[in-house]
Amino acid sequence: MIRPILFYPDKRLREPGKEVEEFDAELHQLIEDMAETMYLAPGVGLAAPQIGVSKRLFIVDVASHDDEPSDLRVFINPEIIAAEGSTTFNEGCLSFPGVREDIDRPERVTVRALDKDGKPFELEADGLLATVIQHENDHLNGELMIDHLSVLRRRMVHRAMTKRAAADAAQ
Ligand code: NI
Repeated sequence: MIRPILFYPDKRLREPGKEVEEFDAELHQLIEDMAETMYLAPGVGLAAPQIGVSKRLFIVDVASHDDEPSDLRVFINPEIIAAEGSTTFNEGCLSFPGVREDIDRPERVTVRALDKDGKPFELEADGLLATVIQHENDHLNGELMIDHLSVLRRRMVHRAMTKRAAADAAQ
C-alpha cells in the first residue's frame, strides 16, 4: 500500500523515532509499504517518520538510481558507529519535493543495525550509499537536510517549502 509522504514543514518530521521492538508481520507490512512508496516516488531512501510512523527504521536502494536490479536494504534501530573522510553530494529528499542542495558529510560510515527479522548486521559503506544512510539516519532523530545548510540557504528552502504547503492547503 502506498503511504502518503509528509512534506516539510510538517512537525511530525521533527519527532525522533522510537526503537522497534516487535519483528512481526505488521513490521514486515510496514517495510513493504515503505518500499512501494519509495519506488513509486521515486527515491533512493525513505525513513519511517517520513510517512508519519515514529519508528527507528529506514530503507535504502541506491541501485534504483542507476537502473540496476533492485537492492533493497532495511536498517532497523541503526547506529552509525564510525565515520571518516568528507565528501559533498547534491542531495534531495522526498519530504522536500523539488529541492536539491549540496551537503557535506563524512565519506565513509560503518553502520550497525537489525534486519527485518531482528538479526544484527554491520555494514561499511562509501559513496552514494554512505550519504543516503546518513541522510535517512538523520530522519530517525528528527533531523532534516535543511539543518545541514547555511543560514541563507536554509531560509530560502524554508520559505519555498512553506509557500508550497500554503498552496497545497488552499487547494
Ligand atoms: Ni530525506
